[in-house]
Amino acid sequence: MTKQPYAEPWRIKMVEPVKILTREERLAKIQEAEYNLFNLAAEDVYIDLLTDSGTGAMSDRQWSAMMLGDESYAGSRSFLRMKKTITELLGFPHVVPTHQGRAAENVLFSATIKAGDIVPGNAHFDTTKGHIEFRQAIPVDCTVDEAADPNLELPFKGNIDTRKLEACIAKYGVDKIPMVIHTVTCNTGGGQPVSMENIKAVSAVCHKHSIPLIFDSARFAENAYFIKTREAGYEDKSIKEIVKEMFSYADGMTMSAKKDAIINIGGFIALKSLETYRKCATFNIMFEGYLTYGGMSGRDMDALAAGLMESTEYDYLHARISQVKYLGDKITELGIPIVKPAGGHAVYVDAKAFFPQIPQIQYPAQVLGVALYVEAGVRGVEIGTVLADRDPVTREERPPKMELLRLAIPRRVYTNNHMDVVVWGLQQIWAKRESYKGLKIKYEAPIMRHFTSTFEQL
Ligand code: F0G
Repeated sequence: MTKQPYAEPWRIKMVEPVKILTREERLAKIQEAEYNLFNLAAEDVYIDLLTDSGTGAMSDRQWSAMMLGDESYAGSRSFLRMKKTITELLGFPHVVPTHQGRAAENVLFSATIKAGDIVPGNAHFDTTKGHIEFRQAIPVDCTVDEAADPNLELPFKGNIDTRKLEACIAKYGVDKIPMVIHTVTCNTGGGQPVSMENIKAVSAVCHKHSIPLIFDSARFAENAYFIKTREAGYEDKSIKEIVKEMFSYADGMTMSAKKDAIINIGGFIALKSLETYRKCATFNIMFEGYLTYGGMSGRDMDALAAGLMESTEYDYLHARISQVKYLGDKITELGIPIVKPAGGHAVYVDAKAFFPQIPQIQYPAQVLGVALYVEAGVRGVEIGTVLADRDPVTREERPPKMELLRLAIPRRVYTNNHMDVVVWGLQQIWAKRESYKGLKIKYEAPIMRHFTSTFEQL
């Protein structure tokens, strides 16, 4: 018996037409954009895989929930509904709304991190790292070594190595470590999940030393899907049961609701400790807004609550992650190197292995991103030397271990026919891969250069 194919547990009620330029037109557009994909007008992109953040399609239930939005400044029904959903689903009694994920980081870290502190974690996301370093504190990457090898096909490459974590605590001392941040799934490491066993082990280490454990939870539901499908003992548990157990080991969480709450803007902090909540409250009022909206409108909070319920349904997650796997498998069939296995939200093409003739300081992943736009109108994002930026002290380039082009798939937006176009585009480039040359930076900003740099071809 063959396995029944998967299909999306939704049908399409509204569509958004997209423009398809010719190859020549795209060539002109990317030259005008000086080879930076961020400089393109979105309407000149056919299939936009720049990010899965805020780009998902809301459901009819979410849109109708928006009509119930209560825009009261204080104590709105929308906030209370959102808070109730978060408490019931994730188990945290205290909720601080923010306008997106990095805002949650800003508020929580303002209340808890000081200069000289150390924040261990699993390959912190850029904004997380940025908010730690901005406070003259140091993020320490304790991810398992296996994560650095794109060819190793392991189920939980986002795990924290607890020996590295113990060594970090022994080296710097508990007083310097305000929290450990576990990112579920780990975006920087290739959208790789964290196992429940690892969550338990990390939680045990943290709590032995009385260090709070915080989850960076942007893609927590996708992580739960991997636990259900890859970890023994969880096959028969529902996603909601798994999610509840995951968060039971944490003391708090930051959330970019633009991912697994499937809304276009929003975020929050959720906490067990009333004391930490009170500390965050002051900063939230200063930076984000009053404690019952924090930069979101009432209707956003209602859509957020509905989105959290939908993203933690198995059928939704199965279709979503199967689509990412579909793209990963098709690319792999052509012999094109990717980070294995495919992540929860994205496929990461290994540009170093794709273009061995291009040195890392000539930005092979940027070259691949530009080429994919020209060939197929697809926009990915460089996660390599451009993004890694210069060392803040020496100003030298600091090429990372992996040089990747991330193809992040928005939730409920594209069909597998779109994925086939992406694969076709990569195939065109692969066939003439030896003919590509590197790029040189023309202009770069002193920090976060990847957004605004301009390039010229070598
Ligand atoms: N944490 C993780 C793991 C993220 O991936 C992101 C955003 C954030 C925090 C910050 O959240 O954007 O709402 O402020 N990631 C996006 C991306 C931008 O494309 O991967 P935000």
